[in-house]
Amino acid sequence: MCGIVGYVGITPAKDILMEGLAKLEYRGYDSAGIALTDGTDDLQVVHRVGKVAELASVVDSMDLPSCCGIAHTRWATHGRPSEENAHPHRDCNGRIAVVHNGIIENYADLREELKSQGHVFASETDTETVAHLLEQYYEGDLAEAMFKAVDRLQGAYGLAAICADQPDQIVVARKDSPIVVGTDGSASMVASDMVAVMNFTRDVVFLEDGQIAVLSSDGIRYYDAPGHEVHPETTHIDWDEQAAERAGYPDFMLKEIHEQPRVVRDTLAGHLRDGRIVLEDLTLTSEELAAIDRVCIIACGTSYHAGLVARELIEKWARIPTSVEVASEFRYRDPIITSTTLVIAVSQSGETADTLAAVRLAREAGAKVFAVTNCMGSRITRESDGTLYVKANMEISVAATKSFLAQIVCLTLIALFLAQERGRLSEEEIDGLYHELCKTSPQIEKILADTSAIEEAATVLEHAHSAMYVGRGIGATVCNEGALKLKEISYLHAEAYAAGELKHGPIALIDEDVPVVAVVTQSPTREKTISNIEEVLARGAHVIAVATEGDTEITKIAEHVIYIPPIDDSFSAITASVPLQLLARFVAKARGCDVDQPRNLAKSVTVE
Ligand code: AGP
Repeated sequence: MCGIVGYVGITPAKDILMEGLAKLEYRGYDSAGIALTDGTDDLQVVHRVGKVAELASVVDSMDLPSCCGIAHTRWATHGRPSEENAHPHRDCNGRIAVVHNGIIENYADLREELKSQGHVFASETDTETVAHLLEQYYEGDLAEAMFKAVDRLQGAYGLAAICADQPDQIVVARKDSPIVVGTDGSASMVASDMVAVMNFTRDVVFLEDGQIAVLSSDGIRYYDAPGHEVHPETTHIDWDEQAAERAGYPDFMLKEIHEQPRVVRDTLAGHLRDGRIVLEDLTLTSEELAAIDRVCIIACGTSYHAGLVARELIEKWARIPTSVEVASEFRYRDPIITSTTLVIAVSQSGETADTLAAVRLAREAGAKVFAVTNCMGSRITRESDGTLYVKANMEISVAATKSFLAQIVCLTLIALFLAQERGRLSEEEIDGLYHELCKTSPQIEKILADTSAIEEAATVLEHAHSAMYVGRGIGATVCNEGALKLKEISYLHAEAYAAGELKHGPIALIDEDVPVVAVVTQSPTREKTISNIEEVLARGAHVIAVATEGDTEITKIAEHVIYIPPIDDSFSAITASVPLQLLARFVAKARGCDVDQPRNLAKSVTVE
């Protein structure tokens, strides 16, 4: 989730661009850059690692009179945070510059193709392939070149490009990553979200997928095909600045919950090639893979719950004994870790002190440690043998939502990869499972399209003092995270238990004042879970069930049923978690809690 801003008009662009970047910094800030046309054969380009202020400290003292430019603040997805990887990226001749928000899924193939045609790359990023494609197709019209270039791209992109030959023009394109443009008749602006253009104009056009816009000082022209002009409607935005940062959502948590379909797609993208799971960053030799006799997953909090899902899948598919360890306990035990233990450290921030300490302990014991994280360049990436990045973009709400689902997707890919490499799953089985996994993204969109049943169910919890979450197998792992979400943001006590455990003590807690949330989706243990629900019903519990669409039996034993689309049980944690995120949020909002910044919590726990 990077920040893009562009300006072309009759006043110098520099300060306008830097102001726009400053407003986009909440979207990501590991590096930033600016590019301006200056009427000569060259572009003026400045990059800096770090926050926008680092770039401003250089640019402010530079004489950059140009009235046309683009700028970018980066949340790294491909290529570590560095000056070379900072946007804008240029073509071989430095005459075309482009900034990008999104992920080019087929960038590796395009990069090889362009290199074979003589293009020289200066960065590790997916974005730079666009600069060289524009160069490849440029014959005097940047918009035409853009149409040809985006025709080669797979994935999500919001793009803005300038060319030295056309110093009064910015060409923008969009697919799946938002692009907003506006004009006041003497200048035009583009940005990756409203907050950067609001001071310039509130009458904007949100570009549609496949459209290209050509911005100049006297206006904007829109095309949906080369030479075919269209005239999209203008929207007047009356959000305040904070609402604009949240893209109109009432809070970042809801915005990030709604980003999950895209996050799942981005995290999955490019990992199935020629019928095989490809995880280039899991750098284990075939001998090392064959020698693995145990997997140990280390994490804290929500990331620990993602590890619980992974254990189910690694043992099911790869048949490798797998443990999941709370890092703060692991580091003080005398754990059995050897050189044939594969350690996977899961951390959204990559800065969690307990997890980092556990990583050091595991490496000292001779194990290979691979990190699964959302934050490029974070400490865990520097202390592990390798890193697999989830593609959740910056997660601002303290309570993890989209990063959790992205972690599950990444860990699922690892489980499939291990099974593949150990010969436990055939290519046909891998292909089938991967494509079933891909269904979770549109299924999340369906769940998000109608949350009325979830909102109604929340009324059962709103005035409760405690709640019990129960499930079996994958359903039990979902309950762990569901209960944590409720605790974190609504301050309502909740416990998660394997449903089969209730009769061994916890059922003593159950009465009409302790609502029970049961995850009872289609699974081999569904009937057992139904029996457990009947046990709590007999004690007067109010039951909220998460069930599979079409399962009408559940309506007989649950006051509220939240349906999710049918999916292979192996992937149900991804879809069943979404209603529980929303349920926790509805309860928290009803209880007047701040869902983005809950009391006592921090986004990254860098202390013990
Ligand atoms: C997330 O909702 C929680 N606030 C918290 O448990 C978090 O998952 C935990 O602190 C681990 O953080 P990490 O993933 O950045 O290591």
